[in-house]
This record gives sequence, structure tokens and C-alpha cells, in this order.
Amino acid sequence: MHFRSLPAAALLLTSAQHASAQFGFEWEFTYPDCVNGPLASNAVCDTSASSADRAAALVKAMPLKDKFRNLVDRSNGSRSLGLARYEWWSEALHGVAGSPGVNFSESGDYSYATSFPMPILFSAAFDDQLVEDIATTISTEARAYSNAGRAGLDFFTPNINPYKDPRWGRGSETPGDDPFRIMGYVKHLLLGLEGGHNPPLKKMIATCKHFAGYDMEIWDGVIRYGFDALITSQDLAGYYMPPFQQRARDSKVGSIMCSYNAINGVPACADSYIMDDILRKHWNWNQPNHPYVTSDCNAILDIWTNHEYVSTPEEAAAASYNAGTDQVCEVFNRTAVEGAYDKGLLSEAVIDRALRRQYEALIIAGYFDPADSNPYRSIGWD
Ligand SMILES: *[C@@H]1O[C@H](CO)[C@@H](O)[C@H](O)[C@H]1NC(C)=O
Ligand SMILES: *[C@@H]1O[C@H](CO)[C@@H](O)[C@H](O)[C@H]1NC(C)=O
Ligand SMILES: *[C@@H]1O[C@H](CO)[C@@H](O)[C@H](O)[C@H]1NC(C)=O
Repeated sequence: MHFRSLPAAALLLTSAQHASAQFGFEWEFTYPDCVNGPLASNAVCDTSASSADRAAALVKAMPLKDKFRNLVDRSNGSRSLGLARYEWWSEALHGVAGSPGVNFSESGDYSYATSFPMPILFSAAFDDQLVEDIATTISTEARAYSNAGRAGLDFFTPNINPYKDPRWGRGSETPGDDPFRIMGYVKHLLLGLEGGHNPPLKKMIATCKHFAGYDMEIWDGVIRYGFDALITSQDLAGYYMPPFQQRARDSKVGSIMCSYNAINGVPACADSYIMDDILRKHWNWNQPNHPYVTSDCNAILDIWTNHEYVSTPEEAAAASYNAGTDQVCEVFNRTAVEGAYDKGLLSEAVIDRALRRQYEALIIAGYFDPADSNPYRSIGWD
């Protein structure tokens, strides 16, 4: 059983397309008003406080009913708090790309973005400075789109799965098949995307995907949404994990995306072994900030439909947030967050942890800072 009519890969290929209109989403990116609005009195706007304290202040003040609608990509904000709506799903695989969060204009300024070659090609140049320069251009254009209210501050890029199986249709999105090569690529790509030479402020939040063991689309009646990858510990440690170790432990990327597949029987987005034991504890990804995990789009629904790992949508929502998914990308179906809470499967403490992590990312990207204190806010179409 499957409900998606448009595979994620098709989205990536439509560059200057009006994906937001196509999805029927209506939203506009706006920076919150930290000067005159109700948020101004909340410590989230206090630029002298730590990002963790600022995120905690925001979440503490948020009404419970608003929390439910802010755990998914089309997050609804909070009217009483003065927090704007925010679409977490923007794409920039090899240039700012059509996606629910990106709004190209019909013509003229903001009607296109630079489209670089597919990652497998620019990775194959074996020139990490070139990789960093390409990524720097992508993030500069991304920031211009955000400043114009036409994109978010986080992007579901890069795809860093090692490309082991040539039958996988999305190999061209990846840097190749060699984990050592991918580690060098990821290091320099992230320096360019997140503006790593200017910590702790990030130019944008990159999302390394798909965690983990993901390299199967559809084959012989098996589809990626319900695929159970059987992977030995040795292959996991030696082949599938090194690119993610680089981005989490060494590059401290702002976000990662858990994948559709299961690993040894456990759907990745419900797997606390990979998301908590390895990612946050073993690799110490939680330091110095508290980055967030987003799900691939509709992956939470798949936990009960395609994987049949649990038997209700509420259990699927609870399994994912409890295991360490902090933000859920939805396509057509609502994630049953509120139901999971009402049934006592999901606590407010876990909801708050997820919200704190995701808003801390926006804080680090300067979302709640005054325009004149952020060097990236002056980037425009010129
Ligand atoms: C895209 O941006 C334009 C100009 O700001 C705005 O009028 C329009 O409503 C936006 N479209 C969507 C789908 O958000
Ligand atoms: C989303 O926010 C709008 C504007 O604040 C509000 O009218 C609407 O009821 C909210 N929707 C949900 C599902 O909370
Ligand atoms: C998902 O959405 C589709 C389309 O709206 C609907 O037909 C289907 O019943 C929904 N599935 C679940 C599990 O909610």
C-alpha cells in the first residue's frame, strides 16, 4: 500500500518549478519580529544567551496545542507567541531547487538558481576546494532566497549514502561508492553550505541524508518504504557509517535525515540504536549544540503501513519521536502526534526535546537575530 504520487527524486529534478503551488501549500518565509512583536519579550530573542537557553525559553512559552503542529515540516508557528509558520522542507541538491519551501517567481529576479552538475560528477573531480566553492555558491544563493522570503533556512541536502548498488536509481545524487572519498567530500561540502569558517553562526542548516544503510529504490517487488536492510555490524561500521561519522562527529552538521528503510528489522526513524547510541552518544553529536533529526517524507507513516512495525499511526508517531526523530516531513498524511500524546504514548518532555532541538538550529542560523547583527542577512539577488 502506498499513497505517494510523486517520488522525492522527481522533486529534486524540477528546478525552477513552482513546487509550493503544485503542493497546494501556502506559506511565506518571514523572520520573526524580535523588536516589536510579542516574541520580543521572550528570551529566544536574547542574542547574548546560549542557543540552548534561547530554544528552551521559546518552547517553555509555547501552548501545548501549538506544539503538536510544530513537530512537522509545515509547522504552524504560534499566534499567541508571535512565532511565524515555517516550512522545513527546502531542497538544494546541486543548487536551490523546487520543493515545498522554495518559491521561485514566474520571471526575472528569483525565477532561477545556479544548477551545478550532479554530485557524483563534482565529487569525481577529486578537488575538495572545488566542492567547497560550489557549496559556498549554493548557500549564498539559498540565503538570498531566504532573505527574500522565498526559502527556509534549512535544506534537505546533501545525500551522502555510499553508492554501493548500481541498481539504485539515485546514485547520481551521491558523492560515489567510496566511504573515504565521501568523508573528504562531506567535510568540504559542509564548510561551504553551513559557512563553517564562521562558527557558531551557520549560514544555513544542511541535512545529511539518509541515515542509514539506504541504497535501494524498488527492485523485484520490494520498495524502499518497507525495505529491511540486513547489514552486519562490520559493514555498518566500515562502509555505511563513515560518511555520517564525519558529518556528525567532525563537521557537527545542523541536521540529519533518518531513512525509509529498516536496518536489521527496525525502521531507521524508530531506531534508538543508530539515532541515540551511535549518533548522539558515541559520536557526541549533541555537543556543542543540540542538532535535530528530521524524517524522510512520510517515513513515519511507513513505520505502520509498509514496515508493519507497529499497528496504529499513533504508535508510529510515538516510536519515532521517542527514538530521537525530532521533526517529521509529511507529504499527504498528518502524523498522529496529538493522538500519540492523548493515548499516553508520547510525553510532553519528549515533544519539548524535539522542539528545542529544531528551534536551536534556527537560532544558530540567525532566525531570531536582528537583521543588522547577522552578516548573511544583507545577501540579496545582486
Ligand atoms: C511566492 O512569493 C510571492 C511573492 O512574495 C507571493 O505572492 C506568493 O504568495 C508566494 N507563493 C507561495 C505559494 O507561497
Ligand atoms: C495555524 O495557524 C493559523 C494562524 O495562526 C490558525 O488560524 C490555525 O488555526 C492554525 N492551525 C492549526 C491546525 O493549528
Ligand atoms: C493518507 O492520505 C490519503 C489521501 O488523503 C488517504 O486516502 C489515506 O487514507 C491516508 N492514510 C492514512 C494512513 O491516514
